[in-house]
Amino acid sequence: MPELRAERVSKAFGGMQALRGVSLSVERGERRAIIGPNGAGKTTLFRIISGELRPNQGAVYLNGRRVDGLPPERVSLLGVARTFQVSSLFPEKSCLEHVMLALLALRRGQRWWPFTAMARVPGLEDAAYDALEQVGLTQQARQPAGALAHGDRRQLELAMALAQQPRLLLLDEPLAGLSEVERERIGQILMQLPRTLTVLLIEHDLGFAYAFADRMTVLHYGEVLLEGDPEQVRRDPRLLEVYAGRVLEETEAPPAPEREAGPAALQVSGLVSGYGDAQVLHGVDLEVRQGEVVALLGRNGMGKTTLLHTIMGLVRPSSGRVLLGGRDVTGLSPLQLAQAGLTLVPQGRRAIPGLTAQEELSLARQPGPWSVERVYELFPRLYERRNAPSVALSGGEQQMLAIARALVRNPVVLLMDEPSEGLSPAVLQRIEETIQALRREGMTILLAEQKLDMALNVADRVYVLEQGKVVYEGRPDALRSQRQLLQQMMAI
Ligand SMILES: Nc1ncnc2c1ncn2[C@@H]1O[C@H](COP(=O)(O)OP(=O)(O)OP(=O)(O)O)[C@@H](O)[C@H]1O
Ligand SMILES: [Mg+2]
Repeated sequence: MPELRAERVSKAFGGMQALRGVSLSVERGERRAIIGPNGAGKTTLFRIISGELRPNQGAVYLNGRRVDGLPPERVSLLGVARTFQVSSLFPEKSCLEHVMLALLALRRGQRWWPFTAMARVPGLEDAAYDALEQVGLTQQARQPAGALAHGDRRQLELAMALAQQPRLLLLDEPLAGLSEVERERIGQILMQLPRTLTVLLIEHDLGFAYAFADRMTVLHYGEVLLEGDPEQVRRDPRLLEVYAGRVLEETEAPPAPEREAGPAALQVSGLVSGYGDAQVLHGVDLEVRQGEVVALLGRNGMGKTTLLHTIMGLVRPSSGRVLLGGRDVTGLSPLQLAQAGLTLVPQGRRAIPGLTAQEELSLARQPGPWSVERVYELFPRLYERRNAPSVALSGGEQQMLAIARALVRNPVVLLMDEPSEGLSPAVLQRIEETIQALRREGMTILLAEQKLDMALNVADRVYVLEQGKVVYEGRPDALRSQRQLLQQMMAI
């Protein structure tokens, strides 16, 4: 008997048909990858299996027992655990408390339990430690989740799911937004999961999906487009057509031609900042010249986001200066900085509740070459979903919206924080091409990115940030030929 069987499952949100008659059968102990373009219905399928959503039609069986329509607490008692596409942790609570909470919720058959009672439950702490050990997080056990690097946060979520000792584990993009080193580490943890566990994996990192999965299911517009073992799926032309794009060929773009440097557009000197007592930036110096694309590399937690947030006025520097076009803008509010022509594509999307995608774009629009029509040409999927509430968009669709919103502002300097996160391979390729086009059009860009190849393909210059300081500055071709050095810098 299969561990999981979905039978002609359909789900509509208003007029939007997210799943259309999806059938799927997963054997016990199987590792199944679910892949497909942004908005194909992958997360929706997970939400139906875990009981968060009820299908409009069809049925879901777990080990032969019909479970669709059961509340999520019941489904998790039956052995289903899932991780989420976007982290949802309590910033002040420790890793240990998070795992204890997950355990308690399961024991009590509830999703939610006050933290205070936990210390009194016998055996809870030991069980939680075991789960943290499984993912290599014991050293961070007492740290608040808010202080964790992105990769560690994903590990914590995995620990919370594993602590429940599930039969069926649903992983929604566990590698999204991770650095190469973190990918490797979490990838290995996933590969070493016990073979008795049945795992469904959603992942846009096809290299990992091929290596991990026994079988793959490709969703496209809410339907199963094809299914097979990784070799079959990889060779199927339909996959290239709807999903993978040119990326699979792993072409290396020719290096950007060297150009005469323009005047400085953005200058950062001696920048020191952080949160409360925790200092993150220890005197950062960098410069972006007009029309230049500068990539900011570095492991998660080394200060890339903090640097972008400090430049954007979201975090106040305790010393140092930020100059925009030669004018001192240190300490201005985010609004004032936006008016001065600075725009940020934030990490983790951030849609505005209550507005449709189209409304968000119209509100953001400023005069310049990027119109709402032009961003729709760039992201046809966003055009299709333009009338949906932006908070209801899929992970990748929200990422497209975040980039589109920044582009229609037609900024003087564009700051981008991990624009590649959560995007399907084909869309990723378009982003890369778009940044190259923006560069030709003379836009000034500072780009924080984990995807090395993408960063090296688009950048005029590269900075590497390590422990809140710039430790390397150079041209991408120099870094390309010193890949080992770069990997070392990213791995310390
Ligand atoms: N609550 C909702 N209301 C309206 N539309 C929704 C809702 N939830 C999902 N959708 C829509 O259903 C479609 C499928 O979404 P889903 O999150 O399943 O996609 P996905 O395959 O996980 O994509 P991604 O790779 O971008 O994460 C999307 O177009 C999304 O906008
Ligand atoms: Mg999704």
